Amino acid sequence: MALPDKVRLVEVGPRDGLQNEASQISTAVKIELVARLGAAGVRHIEAASFVSPKWVPQMADSREVMAGIERRNGVIYAALTPNLKGFEGALASGVDEVAVFTAASEAFTQKNINCSIAESLSRFTPVIEAARANGIRVRGYVSTVLGCPYAGDIAPAQVAAVSRELLDMGCFEISLGDTIGTGTPLKAKRMLEAVAREVPIGQLAAHFHDTYGQALANLYAVLEEGLAVVDASVAGLGGCPYAKGASGNVASEDVIYLLQGLGIRTGIDLELLAQTGNWISAQLGRSNGSKVGQAMACS
Ligand code: HMG
Ligand code: MG
Repeated sequence: MALPDKVRLVEVGPRDGLQNEASQISTAVKIELVARLGAAGVRHIEAASFVSPKWVPQMADSREVMAGIERRNGVIYAALTPNLKGFEGALASGVDEVAVFTAASEAFTQKNINCSIAESLSRFTPVIEAARANGIRVRGYVSTVLGCPYAGDIAPAQVAAVSRELLDMGCFEISLGDTIGTGTPLKAKRMLEAVAREVPIGQLAAHFHDTYGQALANLYAVLEEGLAVVDASVAGLGGCPYAKGASGNVASEDVIYLLQGLGIRTGIDLELLAQTGNWISAQLGRSNGSKVGQAMACS
């Protein structure tokens, strides 16, 4: 299949990126990060997470973050919601979209959301019903699609089965998470082929962490299969608190640079995005995880 001519970038830095940061990040910095991303042309931003503050303290101010964001026309501001309680918080904050999340691995699901895969899906039923009643779209995440920190290898058929369940329940899009970033291109391709037999490729997204430095290669492999939605974090921020050692998502700047080189449209201004990556890295006092961001800062 040919490469897509257009890709939608889902910027998950304010959520996936910041959720794992050890130091306290002010609400004002989170709000400014979302504003800068919007100004750079990002049209889909995961801005908050309505999970238990005991489990993920960094996201405890999600309500304030959502309240402080100056909404831009045409931008979708989304949040994670693991259950109905989370959905109610997200709804009260005026989110445009919510995301439920489970995994292809039982062991990971237990560690991450304290229940089995089947239980997680049954918790999502009322969330999806309430979302539908309020005209809010629901995205579904499947974690550990290319390997699990507890269970090791994951069968593509298992990823396909969980993805299919989320689709049948009413998720408009399924994001496939290589949570620990151990995947390689052929493995990514085989996994996607299995999932695409159950879920139309136009409803799939790639959410690749870059722990082993393979994320861009894996992305190229799935783009070749026709996948056209990519999750990424500016400056490569992040990691999952329940996947020890997992580093951030593939950096948004690196993804945009790759896509531009392939002649694929995204609507994003790489210069402004790279400035945002350098700005947030300075705010967090860490080095920029985007090679492109680092290179552009020197040029
Ligand atoms: P639990 O302890 O089993 O929940 O946690 P519970 O229903 O028994 O409730 C226990 C307490 O939590 C109660 O409070 C509830 O009110 C409260 P208490 O009575 O003890 O004071 N509670 C909540 N508070 C705020 N918001 C809520 C909420 N729900 C219950 N929504 C739960 C279950 C799912 C809540 C918990 O395990 C949790 O919050 N987990 C969060 C895990 C998480 O955020 N992980 C990171 C995001 S996923 C990810 O990064 C992967 C992804 O990027 C894709 C990839 O890379 O693969 C998406
Ligand atoms: Mg993630």
